[in-house]
Amino acid sequence: MITVDVPGKLYIAGEYAVLEPGGAAVLVAVDRYLTVAVGPAQAPSRRTVTTARTGPGPVELLPRTATTVAAVADPADAAALRHVLTAVELVERLAAERGDELLGFHLEIRSALDDAATGRKFGLGSSGAVTVGVVRALARAYRFDLDDDALLRLALLTAFAVDPRCSGGDVAASLLGGWVAYRAPDRARVAAQFAQPDTKLTDLLWQPWPELSARRVPAPRALRLEVGWSGQPAVSSGLVELLRNGIAGDSAAYSRFVVASNSCVATLVAALESGDDASVGTAVATAGALLRAVSALAGVPIETPALAALRTTADALGAVAKSSGAGGGDCGIALVASADVAQLRQQWRAAGITPLELLVHQSFSAKGNSSDDSVADLRQP
Ligand code: PMV
Ligand code: MG
Repeated sequence: MITVDVPGKLYIAGEYAVLEPGGAAVLVAVDRYLTVAVGPAQAPSRRTVTTARTGPGPVELLPRTATTVAAVADPADAAALRHVLTAVELVERLAAERGDELLGFHLEIRSALDDAATGRKFGLGSSGAVTVGVVRALARAYRFDLDDDALLRLALLTAFAVDPRCSGGDVAASLLGGWVAYRAPDRARVAAQFAQPDTKLTDLLWQPWPELSARRVPAPRALRLEVGWSGQPAVSSGLVELLRNGIAGDSAAYSRFVVASNSCVATLVAALESGDDASVGTAVATAGALLRAVSALAGVPIETPALAALRTTADALGAVAKSSGAGGGDCGIALVASADVAQLRQQWRAAGITPLELLVHQSFSAKGNSSDDSVADLRQP
């Protein structure tokens, strides 16, 4: 059995602008996890997946055909398993390119990213985490020996194939852990290259992609990251679409937003790297203000009244806060002096915001990220 724990993520800065080629963002991985376990097939060469999203029992993948390698019979299951099936498809394509024998397996996916007791969604990035988890677990089962850069490109190809409009920032944060500086590739160019009949997946994974960059950066020295939940679930793809339509008439203003956001993220990354907490705070505040401005420009409510309350209560304590991710609900983040954490949480509760008490995920080895002892089992007929 190979087990992989993948942390959830939150955006610190750079939302929306990171959707453009070369767009920059800073994210953190948090200590709520999605777990993917891959074990031997339940019968020779069968491939099955169990996840709460498709019910208690395993869903069986259809036998591979010349044109389809990862599909399930029920359209509702297919929709729920989009990221899983696409990850399986790309991993098997890579295995075939390498001349590896294709494996049967059972995948078990458990998520603690949403609230298990109530089913409440926090927006910690379950599609990014499941993509990283399935890619990482199956890459281990196949003994691909990919480094983080190649794993990232494989996970990004999966994410972009499912949703060509996502930036991949969530994938990078869940894959690298800690605080992450991300710069998005030109997805259209990657997709066009991928679609060429003579393109090998192997080539795409081992070549650097123009613009793409993802690396860990230091956490602020003394400021604490606090996360507040607005109580409202949000659908990021819907907001991205609304914003796109909203700014369609004023692309010059949108370009100015993207330039300003990228420069703000560059300042933030430099401040994190030099341990300058004051500049970290200023940059995060600027990132929030830029989002409020583009929200007004497009007529899309990124900062809901609850998220505005989250910000103003933090402001009153001398902390810095903003919406996190696409907005419209989900979470907001604050950077606050340790001495003020208790008071911030109390004031958030009074304003109807739930403090999530998350920590930044730091190290994969600390969570016992995998054990490869019985990989050989997967190869048994
Ligand atoms: O709401 P979240 O945490 O899924 O973040 C979405 C961030 C966007 O930049 C708006 C979209 C994206 O794919 O990066
Ligand atoms: Mg969100």
